[in-house]
Amino acid sequence: MIMESTPLNTFSRCQTTDLTAAFNQFNQYTLRLEESYNQLQNRVKAIDEEMAHANACLSDKVQALDSLTKYLHSLLGSIHSGVIAINLKGEISTFNRASEKILRLNASDVLGKRVDAIIKSSNGSAPLMLLTLKRGRNCIDVKRQIETDKGLSKWVESSVSLIKDAHDNTIGAVEVFRDLSEIRELETRLRKADKLAAIGAMSACIAHEIRNPLNGIEGFSALLARDFSDSDPRKKLVKNIIQGTKNLNKTVTELLVFARPLKLSISDCRISEILNKTLFFVAEDMKQKGISGIHIIKEFTLDAASDMIRCDAEKLQQAFLNLCMNAVQSMTQGGVLTVFTAKTEDHAYGDVLVGIKDTGTGIKKELVGKIFDPFFTTKHEGTGLGLAIVNKIVEAHNGKIFFESLEGSGTTFYTHLLKNPLCDLYTFDDMFSKTGELSAQFA
Ligand SMILES: Nc1ncnc2c1ncn2[C@@H]1O[C@H](COP(=O)(O)OP(=O)(O)O)[C@@H](O)[C@H]1O
Ligand SMILES: [Mg+2]
Repeated sequence: MIMESTPLNTFSRCQTTDLTAAFNQFNQYTLRLEESYNQLQNRVKAIDEEMAHANACLSDKVQALDSLTKYLHSLLGSIHSGVIAINLKGEISTFNRASEKILRLNASDVLGKRVDAIIKSSNGSAPLMLLTLKRGRNCIDVKRQIETDKGLSKWVESSVSLIKDAHDNTIGAVEVFRDLSEIRELETRLRKADKLAAIGAMSACIAHEIRNPLNGIEGFSALLARDFSDSDPRKKLVKNIIQGTKNLNKTVTELLVFARPLKLSISDCRISEILNKTLFFVAEDMKQKGISGIHIIKEFTLDAASDMIRCDAEKLQQAFLNLCMNAVQSMTQGGVLTVFTAKTEDHAYGDVLVGIKDTGTGIKKELVGKIFDPFFTTKHEGTGLGLAIVNKIVEAHNGKIFFESLEGSGTTFYTHLLKNPLCDLYTFDDMFSKTGELSAQFA
């Protein structure tokens, strides 16, 4: 039997065809979508890889920049000259280790502060860096005296340059400077050497002439004193004469020590032992003179090997005693005497250093250049020979002596000594004549 096709059957066939087409299309879209998705995933992967590469490059660059910054930092830290940079506002942006050392300031205290609040020229003019910024011109090798806000005064030689960015715009100024104080001091000392030699020779003659009659006066006065009873007013007068001759004898003895050629007797000695003996004498002297209110601190930091040096212990003890006595005499209202030892940071001056620090009156700025001169004294009963003798003893050991002082706060004397001064072969006179030759070359 043949069945008539119904409209429903027709519709069904049509619909199946459409559905198949729709499925096919859907399949195609799905395939395309899948393809796009894969493409997108590949793209994301590529971008990820690019980003990882970029990150690695960036991290390399940051590391390189970090190493460069560290390198520049160590470079600035290692150079012997002071380097200070400021921005356009005059604020300090760089202050290297040598600047800290020369100007005795901490970088952390000055960074970000205006340079004119920290450093001033002694003649009152603005700091060289600000002048350079104002003028827009570099300046080279300018010698001048500067002062810090802490009252430290230094002779320095500076060069200042403008700092430019990549577009040649000025963004600050940088000063490179070196400490001239020691060179100037050395020149002055060498110039004085000739004068000292002449004074020394003359003093020796005078001291000899005075000493003999002086001993006679002292002896006869002592005999005379015995003839008077304690109640006799003449006894007091004679005692005054005896005291006067004793003082004069002390001066003459110091004069001879200063004037005579210094012959060293060198052996292996412990610095701490020399200082302990010195401080024993200082304490005894204070007791005898009824001085109280001075506290003595010992800070001996040298290990056993560094503590041992070749020197003339007796002479060095005399030098340290003179320095300690000056320290005590400067603390009229009491205070602290600190005696310390340390290894020297700068081996150009010696291997070890002995510091003698007081909290006394300090030294007036205008007297700073004079205190080592023979016969220079600010004391009523001073001879002015103490430091001249100290200098002579230290120089004979091929050592160096420096001091820093703040009026009203105190003074520290630093004696730099060599472990082996090789001075066994020289007398002081040999050395003196050598410094004389040097001074002629410098003149
Ligand atoms: N520690 C010190 N504190 C203050 N002033 C000092 C100190 N040491 C030395 N001086 C100054 O240096 C001068 C010279 O010292 P010195 O040569 O020992 O001679 P004197 O002690 O006989 O005066 C002293 O008169 C004093 O003005
Ligand atoms: Mg003295």
